[in-house]
Amino acid sequence: MDACKGKKIVAGICGGIAVYKAAYIVSKLVQAGASVRVIMTRAACEFVTPLTFESLSQHRVFTDLFRDDPLAHVELAHTADLFVLMPATYNIIGKLAHGIADDFLTTTVAATRAPLLVIPAMESQMYTNPVFQENKKRLSELGYRFLEPETGHLASGRSGVGRFPSEEKIFKAIEEIFAERSLLKGRRVLVTAGPTREMLDPMRCITNKSSGKMGYALAEQARNLGADSVCLVSGPTLLEPPVGVEFVKVESAAEMHKAVTERFPKFDLILMAAAVADWRPKKAFSHKLKKSDARELTLVLEKTPDILSELGRRKKKNQILVGFAAETEKILEHAREKLRAKNLDLVVANDITAPGAGPEVETNIVTLLYRDGRSRTLPCMTKCEVAREVLREIARLL
Ligand code: C5P
Repeated sequence: MDACKGKKIVAGICGGIAVYKAAYIVSKLVQAGASVRVIMTRAACEFVTPLTFESLSQHRVFTDLFRDDPLAHVELAHTADLFVLMPATYNIIGKLAHGIADDFLTTTVAATRAPLLVIPAMESQMYTNPVFQENKKRLSELGYRFLEPETGHLASGRSGVGRFPSEEKIFKAIEEIFAERSLLKGRRVLVTAGPTREMLDPMRCITNKSSGKMGYALAEQARNLGADSVCLVSGPTLLEPPVGVEFVKVESAAEMHKAVTERFPKFDLILMAAAVADWRPKKAFSHKLKKSDARELTLVLEKTPDILSELGRRKKKNQILVGFAAETEKILEHAREKLRAKNLDLVVANDITAPGAGPEVETNIVTLLYRDGRSRTLPCMTKCEVAREVLREIARLL
């Protein structure tokens, strides 16, 4: 309960029968010392009147984007430490997953960077509807936290999944979020991501299938976990750099080497998730290579600098160095060898041929390997969840 003291929490109340339970949670949050500002959707106001939440939160309740203070949603979005959406309906999750912002609540959520805890409650056939599950997955991948509903008696009189969770579970989830927000406080984090491009001529290059998703997720989560600063050095990807992260765009292994080695001494935690080319054309042609009658063309490749090995040699006692090993065979054996040869503190290994893992999917299945021989395999999770879990593990090492 102590975790809520002095915190600014925005409660987004939607139109489901569990709204009466949400009223109780708002009351408990206020009793725990949080300052709670309530936003109600139009449907929520059909179930109970704003007066209930006004009395419990001791603040006026926001319901109408056009009648309330015109900038109130921006102010709430910027100052909140946490958003709790409860009960989160089929409708609100669908709207948020598709970027619809047509009322006070959805507009405020769109404008915030605060962590969001989503507490769905609904009839089980709505909860298990694939459309809903797809929207939930989409939001999870974007970093929204979902508290799973309980199974049991539902308002319809039926039994199934969809019950609003207990007060204990909700408070535990809130405490975890607040504890995590300071997990990397005082730390500076450097992340590499994406593929590299080794030019052969002005048009053609040698590259790989890395999407950059894992590295971008690590940078974003490091920021969310309270790191003092986060720098993302990225090869060419189609992704938007996360907000609040220093972004350095590079193309080749040589450029990545320069960007990383220059910055390395200033960082405490270095995560090398980039798929750096190991080889590059020895000679890059200044003109586009012409098609000729020759039946063969021989490319001579030379080694690129192994950035991680160099950092492993230069590493200071207070620096934590993490490597990634995307493998197709003898996964753990190769990863362990990398840990040793490159003087790493942790290796995150994955089998890129396994279903649910690899460069082109949203999920990953990874095994963490430590210096002391320990290892831990995580279940199949979204890359965002993998990133959070990896950073939690590292926080333990720190
Ligand atoms: O030895 P291997 O390339 O398989 O090791 C992968 C790890 O090394 C990754 O963390 C990757 O970012 C890093 N690496 C690097 N520089 C290279 C090649 C790989 O930093 N030239």
